[in-house]
Amino acid sequence: MATDHLSILFVASEVEGLIKSGGLADVAKALPQALHSLEHDVRIALPGYRKIQALQEAPVALQTKLEHWPHTPYQVRELKVGDVSVYAIECDQYFARDEMYSEYNQAYADNGERFAFFSAACLDMLPKLQFQPNIIHANDWHTGFVPYLLKHRYAEFPFFAQTRSVISIHNAVFKGVFSYGELPNLAEMQGHYAPDAAVSPTHITMLKAGVMTADKINAVSPTYAEELKTELGSHGMAKEFRAREHDLVGILNGCDYSDWNPANDVFLPVSYTADATSMLAGKKACKQALQQRVNLPEKEVAVYGMVCRLTNQKGVHYLLPILERFLQLDAQLVIVGTGDPILATQLAEIAARHSDKFAFVEAYSNELAHFVEAGADFFLMPSEFEPCGLNQIYSMAYGTLPIVRAVGGLKDSVVDYDQDPENATGFAFVHPEPIELLSVMQRALLFYLQQREEMVQVQLFAMQKQFCWRQAAQQYLALYRSALHET
Ligand code: GLC
Repeated sequence: MATDHLSILFVASEVEGLIKSGGLADVAKALPQALHSLEHDVRIALPGYRKIQALQEAPVALQTKLEHWPHTPYQVRELKVGDVSVYAIECDQYFARDEMYSEYNQAYADNGERFAFFSAACLDMLPKLQFQPNIIHANDWHTGFVPYLLKHRYAEFPFFAQTRSVISIHNAVFKGVFSYGELPNLAEMQGHYAPDAAVSPTHITMLKAGVMTADKINAVSPTYAEELKTELGSHGMAKEFRAREHDLVGILNGCDYSDWNPANDVFLPVSYTADATSMLAGKKACKQALQQRVNLPEKEVAVYGMVCRLTNQKGVHYLLPILERFLQLDAQLVIVGTGDPILATQLAEIAARHSDKFAFVEAYSNELAHFVEAGADFFLMPSEFEPCGLNQIYSMAYGTLPIVRAVGGLKDSVVDYDQDPENATGFAFVHPEPIELLSVMQRALLFYLQQREEMVQVQLFAMQKQFCWRQAAQQYLALYRSALHET
């Protein structure tokens, strides 16, 4: 019999509102909130990183020890994000550090042990908290051992007899590769070869552990679900994704319009709506504010924005070779991001030579991200690959036309003006070549200069597009029900 109200434990390594490094955190806030609004009992589990500001004041819900993990006490604090309860699993030896995953661009040496511990504790705490979920929803490699342990360690455990697992793939380039020796506390990894997780006689990946053992898998866009079945798109895990293709679906992320809405954005100097007069006046004021903030000349030129981790995934290596040619045009560019120090140095050098046209802010700043989304005319996402991408969706909400490479979720969410002017929401290019990027950036500039009225129509159309989490949550519910054999 179908259960009307499901209980769901959503397990993630970061959650917007508490701690964030990327889009995963946005999803980990918005999807549980949408499921809650549909009247399901959803709770989140997150590592209790010391960096989470609200942690110290939060009440302790459980003090215990992890069975099977010798001498490791942990405690669970209960926090709230919106209406949703969050269990933060605190264990000083693993999470009382300055950062979540790495410092000075160097991953913590014991990340395997840290996230294996977190995954094991997520399951260990549930009977102790008397929370018996129908679905445990893991996300990315950090939580890959959750489905794995559910299947192996807890297979005969009556408490979990009705519990099924789902894993979402937000980015399969990160696999969590560790040697058996790096997982000394995980009994399942000791003394024998673990075929569900192994990538070589000596190493496993946590992502594979999750993919091979979860009842259902989803990628964060339909195109990414297809790409994962190829060697290139899955970064070498096509065999595993193909083996699970009947349990693999793609669900496009939504947009949290309570955080990303120009009519109601606490960071902006003015607000605006999807009406031509309001939008033009609002974006003009936001453009000036952005130019002021990043020290670019305050003038009415086309402004291109980019906010991202500085990695090749985001296509910085397509931009760099053509950047100075682009900067000969009458336009401005603002890039905000942190990451690879080599890319950062190259961008900073170019910015120093072209300070009248190009501002590079080496920072991770939510506030500046809002300024760029609102103040730019175009938003650049020339990604090499992009499981979903959220900034293109945010930029549409702000009437800022995304310029994307047509891969993954970018392909599923942006319609190119020249391909389909009636339904256009931005610009896209296909071939991963710097020159293709330059040409689409030029195409956008011509549109700005020569077709202003038409551009306003496209901006307003983009602003009205709704990427609704409620709808995505319904698709997740269908996936959960298929995991529970309720369809
Ligand atoms: C990862 C992906 C990004 C996606 C996000 C949320 O950060 O790189 O494409 O939007 O997860 O699913």
